[in-house]
Amino acid sequence: MRVLRLLRILSTIGRHGLDEFIAGPGTAPVRLAFRTLFFWADRRGPRGERLRLAFQELGPIFVKFGQLLSIRPDLIPTDITEELSKLQDSVPPFPPEQVAAALDRAYGKPHAEVFRTIDLVPVASASVAQVHFAELPDGREVAVKVLRPGIAATIDEDTGLLYAVAGLIERLHPLSELLRAREVVHEFDKIIHDELDLLREASSMSTVRRNFAGSAILYVPDVHFDWCTREVMVMERIDAIPVNDLEAIRAAGIDIPRLGRNGVEIFFTQVFRDGFFHADMHPGNIFVARDGRYCGIDYGIMGSLPDVDRNCLAMIFVAFFKRDYRGVAVAHIDAGWVPPETRVEEFEGAIRSVCEPIFDKPLKDIYFGKLLLRLFEVGRRFRMDIQPQLVLLQKTLLQVEGLGRHLDPELDLRRSAQPILEKWMRENYGPRGLWKQLAAEAPMWGRTIPQLPRLVHKVLSDDAPGRLERAILSLEKAQRRQTRILLAIAFILAVMVTGLVVQALL
Ligand SMILES: Nc1ncnc2c1ncn2[C@@H]1O[C@H](COP(=O)(O)OP(=O)(O)O)[C@@H](O)[C@H]1O
Ligand SMILES: [Mg+2]
Repeated sequence: MRVLRLLRILSTIGRHGLDEFIAGPGTAPVRLAFRTLFFWADRRGPRGERLRLAFQELGPIFVKFGQLLSIRPDLIPTDITEELSKLQDSVPPFPPEQVAAALDRAYGKPHAEVFRTIDLVPVASASVAQVHFAELPDGREVAVKVLRPGIAATIDEDTGLLYAVAGLIERLHPLSELLRAREVVHEFDKIIHDELDLLREASSMSTVRRNFAGSAILYVPDVHFDWCTREVMVMERIDAIPVNDLEAIRAAGIDIPRLGRNGVEIFFTQVFRDGFFHADMHPGNIFVARDGRYCGIDYGIMGSLPDVDRNCLAMIFVAFFKRDYRGVAVAHIDAGWVPPETRVEEFEGAIRSVCEPIFDKPLKDIYFGKLLLRLFEVGRRFRMDIQPQLVLLQKTLLQVEGLGRHLDPELDLRRSAQPILEKWMRENYGPRGLWKQLAAEAPMWGRTIPQLPRLVHKVLSDDAPGRLERAILSLEKAQRRQTRILLAIAFILAVMVTGLVVQALL
């Protein structure tokens, strides 16, 4: 079975003349074999187009993989990513009998006993799942997302093959070190396997709903957990306008430029306040309610950023907005994103040379998502280890900017984002942030304080010299002088007080 599939992949490669991608030393015989076997292949079209057609032919999982590649211009030449971004996963829906069977299986009883009514013809169908409208026994209207039957096995098989092909590429392609094919497949594997668990998606949705409870700009449908399983997800049905339907949004009397700004605010709030963001913000997943609030659905792909990375990212953005390239460089080093021995001046110069031309453009042509991408490219030259979560964030930022500009061509990302960032930094890294952190960490101090002398000794005698200085430097840079002194005093006091309290308690 697997051999057959592999043969099919090889023949697809051959028929589309994709052997030109096999270019490493010692690969001439392989190429020759392909050329001889598939001498009749049509090699006239651009290579990107031929690659896209091949992905399409290989089925929905490959289409999804192609879509993932299309957002990696950091790894793949742009002529190819542009073609791949045209991939659409329009898959025929699975038939009503299969939907019914899947539901019966998931609930362990006939679906007629679970829903008062359900339309077995889907409202939307994609490669992994499809969505049906239904009514709960109490009459509430719901949307039911059902996994495609047998999809897990198909995915396992196809990702297995992708690993095999990626392994081949790494062996055969001269740029394989840059391409890091297996790593990309691994990332894809993770994303697509996450999408296979609808309970996980339901939990993400409900987390974001909680994060935005009472928000005036984003509404997240309620998840009906009692009806959710790994294969079926039931949520409140929303009645809202697709964000692409500008006519209808205008007709509803909604302030469209404001909508553009709100999109930016939602994204930055999710990234910085919550560290948990919707990472699939294409227009198909975004709706607008009649009261002007966004409705976000499809929480299958989420990004998350730990505190340290958020802090560094915030500093990078703020420095960016001020065109302070040194700040950008230093933030990278402080966060440990590039090796500590990186020469700041050199790194700063490299960043300047890619960013300055972009900043020269009119506002409406500046995409910070692209800027971030350029930055990663520079970073890679300086041995920056780019976390997949950052790539996800960069890609989502591009989507958000695209959407924002679609709604308001004059959108000024800086103006919308900067206040959010500055507020966040004040709250987390100003005196207030210190309090917050101390309060949160108080229980831990009891354990840590007795170890303090040892820790200090360890830091001072550590084999990574300068670590302490760097830590102090980064702290200093983050705050103004006065705040710094205050902070230091507050810190010492707090440690002493906590120490006393802990002692008294013990
Ligand atoms: N809660 C909902 N209310 C109304 N329509 C929904 C809801 N959830 C999904 N849909 C419809 O189903 C489509 C696909 O849902 P989505 O969750 O984005 O699935 P996929 O992961 O396949 O993209 C949406 O574009 C929308 O039209
Ligand atoms: Mg979707």
